[in-house]
Amino acid sequence: MRRVTSGLVIIAATAALAACGQPAAEDSGATSNAAAPPAAAPATATAPTSTPAPAVDPAKSALLASLPAPYNTGDLENGQKQFQLCRSCHTITEGGANMTGPNLYGIFGRTAGTVEKFRYSEPLKAAGFVWDGAKLDQWLADPRGFLPGNRMSFMGVKDAKNRTDLIAYLKVETGGKPGG
Ligand code: HEC
Repeated sequence: MRRVTSGLVIIAATAALAACGQPAAEDSGATSNAAAPPAAAPATATAPTSTPAPAVDPAKSALLASLPAPYNTGDLENGQKQFQLCRSCHTITEGGANMTGPNLYGIFGRTAGTVEKFRYSEPLKAAGFVWDGAKLDQWLADPRGFLPGNRMSFMGVKDAKNRTDLIAYLKVETGGKPGG
């Protein structure tokens, strides 16, 4: 009795070992996916990130500092950014074209509505004031409200700091008299 029992135990144990070994042998060569060659990814070269930071022109910094407050502490970079709102209609360089709106070179210290060859609305032609920082600030805050009936279809620049920076930028860029 004893011997038989122990013999059965050994056989059973051997069978169990053999059974354990089986599943492992089944799937050892699953290389199909892993061997796929890397897809020929389009070589999206990284865009050149070397856009040079806008160098601060010392002459412009000096001009900025000479402006009356609050424009003397204006942020020219933000002013330039704000000017994106205007550039579809206005040039600011000397001799720049009139587009939908008049060229703005020399705007400060000039009487409103007097750029040659630009067809102004009657209200702007008749306005008679001289542009300075304060006037431009009011105009840009609410173009329609400031001078009803004018033809500048522009919603305005609502943020006061953005207006200040934009005016500082225009004062530096349009070569006008710094006063006002
Ligand atoms: C959709 C076009 C348009 C945009 C955008 C625009 N303007 Fe004008 N702007 C005009 C037109 C048109 C006039 C002339 C209005 C008239 O005759 O009534 C004008 C007139 C002016 C004037 C008066 C010029 C003068 O000779 O008296 C100033 C200053 C001015 N714009 C500044 C700006 C600034 C600064 C911005 C951006 C914040 C701006 N404009 C955005 C069309 C535009």
